Amino acid sequence: MSLRLIDKESIASDFSDDPAKSFTPNAGYFFDSAVYEAEQAKIFQRSWMYFCHQSQIPRPGDYRVGEVAGQSICVVRGQDSQIRAFFNVCRHRAHQLLRGSGNLKSTIRCPYHSWTYDLEGRLRHAPHCETVRDFEKNSVVLSSVRVEVAAGFVFVNLAPRSGALAECLPGFEEKLLEMVPEAPQLKSASTQGLRYKGELEGGGREFSRELSLVLLGTGA
Ligand code: FES
Repeated sequence: MSLRLIDKESIASDFSDDPAKSFTPNAGYFFDSAVYEAEQAKIFQRSWMYFCHQSQIPRPGDYRVGEVAGQSICVVRGQDSQIRAFFNVCRHRAHQLLRGSGNLKSTIRCPYHSWTYDLEGRLRHAPHCETVRDFEKNSVVLSSVRVEVAAGFVFVNLAPRSGALAECLPGFEEKLLEMVPEAPQLKSASTQGLRYKGELEGGGREFSRELSLVLLGTGA
């Protein structure tokens, strides 16, 4: 089944501005791959997305990897304690750089050919590239992703030119701090793994996913 999602007239006929007429979207909106891709491109790759709480990367060198709108992203706390985010992809042959979470001493080392970057994303070492003509080591940096912290919560945005978090979500941080003043001081108390299984409709292909539920507390 293919939806006419991009067609504004068909959207208008499927939806109403009147909440009293709320019913349910066409079933295809839940499983059509064209809808999914349009949502990724038009919403999730252009929006501020929650990534983690700052307490989950408290020390210099701490990092976490996560998927945002289909892209592998790593968030790293640098030696200067600044939080930075990068596409988790080596600039050499696009191998995935980091997995999971942990602490880096001072560099990010690609497991494929050992290109090594500092925690600000600058290439520091590229074995065997000394003899490559015109290779400019200093011009190679990891592709950065915009990152902001609001009330202790780390958000990333894949769109380089979207507005700041406070512009896109006006009053969000203030409201959150009003409701939970201790939000920036929360600590990751425990992580619970949840596993769910399902079967794709029609094709019968099974899938399973693992979700991590992070519980935050004040530690008091
Ligand atoms: S792909 Fe990373 S060093 Fe080659």
